[in-house]
Amino acid sequence: MKKILSLVMAAVMLLGIVNIALADNAGKPVIWYNRQPSNSTTGELDMDALTFNDKTYYVGFDAVQGAVLQGEMVVNYLKANGEGLDRNGDGIIGYVLCIGDVGHNDSIARTRGARLALGTAMPDVGQGKTEVAGIGDVDPSPIGTNTDGSATAVKDGEIEIGGKTYIVRELASQEMKNSVGATWDAATAGNAIGIWSGTFGDQIDVVVSNNDGMGMAVFTAWSKDNKVPTFGYDANSDAVAAIADGYCGTISQNADVQAYLTLRTLRNALDDADIMVGIKNPDAAGNVLSDDLYYYDEATRCFYALNGAVTADNYELFMDATAPNAKFNFQLTEEQAPTKKVWLSVYNAADNFLNATYVPQLENYQKILNLDVEYVKGDGQTEGNLTDRLGNPDEYDGFAINMVKTDNAASYMVKLQ
Ligand code: BGC
Ligand code: CA
Repeated sequence: MKKILSLVMAAVMLLGIVNIALADNAGKPVIWYNRQPSNSTTGELDMDALTFNDKTYYVGFDAVQGAVLQGEMVVNYLKANGEGLDRNGDGIIGYVLCIGDVGHNDSIARTRGARLALGTAMPDVGQGKTEVAGIGDVDPSPIGTNTDGSATAVKDGEIEIGGKTYIVRELASQEMKNSVGATWDAATAGNAIGIWSGTFGDQIDVVVSNNDGMGMAVFTAWSKDNKVPTFGYDANSDAVAAIADGYCGTISQNADVQAYLTLRTLRNALDDADIMVGIKNPDAAGNVLSDDLYYYDEATRCFYALNGAVTADNYELFMDATAPNAKFNFQLTEEQAPTKKVWLSVYNAADNFLNATYVPQLENYQKILNLDVEYVKGDGQTEGNLTDRLGNPDEYDGFAINMVKTDNAASYMVKLQ
């Protein structure tokens, strides 16, 4: 009898342990980054994901501030260098636009920012908008081609350059998605410019791209040789270097700040420390972020880095996008921050920004924060490719997640229940 009892006891204890282990995963830190849990059609934040537990945060950057900046950068360039820009002399400044992912809030914001600044914006009727009072009202839909200015998602704008008024026309735009479904696809953009230049030839005076991966594909394939101003976003090292060769500008979304915040919030959550340690307030090693680099929205648990324009005027300061920031690059000791294991996903192993800029920055900061990070890279199209590799969450102390689609947070959360 005693034996049976102790067996039962052992079983109960074991079950208890198993239960605790299971419950544990649901309580572990989860940092969403770069792809904000949200509805890809309406942009509405997924608060279930953002409040998965009290150790959950999002780290990204201010998409709207950056998008406005990108639009302004393009317009400033046109105003300053505009004479001679109208290549065929028809009085129309024609531009083409490379869209990254029609369901990604960063991509949507940049399309809107470009159209708003260039005067081509129309109200987003799909969202019930009847006028363009601000950037959020702009229709971000791709137009395909627009030879005669009759597309409905954009209108012809106007710009004054050197005392002369030009029409501004979006000649073409499309989502750069490859045949198997990967978005922000640079190769697709390189092909698109081949088709667009065949159709429009010297009607194309400007290229605007939602990111540098696509922008650089267009630049190398076509605009560099044809001397057509091309603008991107991200300030990847290759794009910044290309400014010396005529790439006109890009936006830094401060990947150093974002990568640091991604791992720093994880570290604090793992240590049960105040979330602002090493962020607003210096940590034991002296790491701290100044207020001009980021802000935090407590209600939605989102950290946002701020953006800066990178042009011919200042690009020399941005040549190495992978260098750690000297102001927050101090090593914590093993006593201050014992090594922990982190599972981290990257939605697409082929995404230029994430792989050429963000991951190297994560690699910098994982060292000083004593985090042992396992990088899991997806194919850019199937969420299951990533979630299937989250089969053993028990082995990790925390998770940093970059989803394929911003709608899909739940498919990670079930793995942690
Ligand atoms: C970047 C893009 C990148 C995308 C991936 C954006 O913030 O600017 O270059 O492809 O994130 O999610
Ligand atoms: Ca023209």
